[in-house]
Amino acid sequence: MSDTQRTVGRLVKAPENFLAKDDAKSPETMRRKFLAAGAATAGLGLAAAAKAASNPVSGKGDPNILNLPEHTTGLGMPVAANGYGVPSKYEKGLQRRESPGLTRVSAASVAFTPLQGTFGIITPSGLHFERHHQGWWDIDPSKHRFMINGMVKRPKVYTMDDLMRLPSVSRIHFIECGANTAMEWGNVAVPTVQYTHGMVSCSEFTGVPLSALLEDCGYDKKNGKFVLAEGADGSSMTRTIPIEMALDDVIVAYGMNGEMLRPENGYPLRLVVPGVQGVSWVKWLRRIEVGDQKWATKDEAIHYIDLLPNGMHRQYSGIQEAKSVVTSPSGGQLLLDKGFYNITGLAWSGRGKITRVDVSADGGKNWRTARLETPVLTKALTRFNIDWSWDGKPAILQSRAIDDTGYVQPPVQLLREVRGTRSIYHNNMIQSWRVAESGEVSNVQVS
Ligand code: MTE
Repeated sequence: MSDTQRTVGRLVKAPENFLAKDDAKSPETMRRKFLAAGAATAGLGLAAAAKAASNPVSGKGDPNILNLPEHTTGLGMPVAANGYGVPSKYEKGLQRRESPGLTRVSAASVAFTPLQGTFGIITPSGLHFERHHQGWWDIDPSKHRFMINGMVKRPKVYTMDDLMRLPSVSRIHFIECGANTAMEWGNVAVPTVQYTHGMVSCSEFTGVPLSALLEDCGYDKKNGKFVLAEGADGSSMTRTIPIEMALDDVIVAYGMNGEMLRPENGYPLRLVVPGVQGVSWVKWLRRIEVGDQKWATKDEAIHYIDLLPNGMHRQYSGIQEAKSVVTSPSGGQLLLDKGFYNITGLAWSGRGKITRVDVSADGGKNWRTARLETPVLTKALTRFNIDWSWDGKPAILQSRAIDDTGYVQPPVQLLREVRGTRSIYHNNMIQSWRVAESGEVSNVQVS
């Protein structure tokens, strides 16, 4: 298996049977084996355990001395050894990854979230996907300024201190790049869920509602129809947002998952536009202008538009429709044995809440309704789980999301009928994972 495929998650039911093959001799596996043996010993009582010490646990040494591991007998690490906590060394395979050859330079590329290895709905900040058009910056917050101008009575320039003393809100939302799943429009193109769907992440964002700042500047309530958001990087990232949306749930955010934004995600200030494709979530936000018409900037006239089968382009299609994906078992993973598995995945909708997720193990012939884990929040990732007993025969796993508008995630052929095969953005087709008799899971498209 290649290094990237090895980023697969763990299919663990019992200690070693359910581990990916190439994990079988890893320290993690050895630890699990040890724990299983240790648990057996614990039930024996001390005397019996001491007697047994010569074989099952240590396998050597004085039968009267328990050969306990160092972590139960020695002194552990001191507090604050990592002033800022980092994951265990055994978890170093779980990384954001760039798809090799996708763009000419990494500064204008994307690093995908390893969805196969995350739990629940929150993406750890260090694994949040990154998409930059011209690289990222670590901007000094004391020098950063944010301006509101255009059709306002009182144009203003805010410092970060000005913004952080205002009343704040914290909300959990997904962000999905409009180009997520872009490579799969024509054919199966990439092997793992990290690359098919890893341009979606979900965090708790904290900041000031844009509506409060627009009020503060006295925006023109009669004629102000749109706002333009502008970033401070060299990509000239500017995006039009309808004023109703700006006044609804848009946040001028400085916080992410309980701390300041990470530089890659727009530190010290970014726009959070719930439900809308990631490009409108302008990073290193420096300006909002109020206007009376759409700006048709390069990133809304040339890019982030949908090429339809009749050759026309669809513009301003920013809301991310309902979508879901099984994250485990998923492409690149390996089922080592038949029997019980927990099928798990994520569902989201830019229009509101997920109300139902159906899962099929036979390529869409039969569907069962999955369990939605709480919390189920509006415009946030929703975790689903469902039991599955694999009989060892080939299977095709799929999930289908339904949101509170009644919208149903489409199968690939239906989406292609309407959208063609030459689009880049807004591919929310039902994803299929084929489980082969060998247990190998791969990316397929079924009609
Ligand atoms: N904002 C600026 N200033 N520059 C950028 O390159 N990329 C956009 C958007 N905001 C971008 C930007 C795109 S295309 C996406 S998908 C999201 O940021 C990605 O946000 P993330 O890197 O925090 O995941």
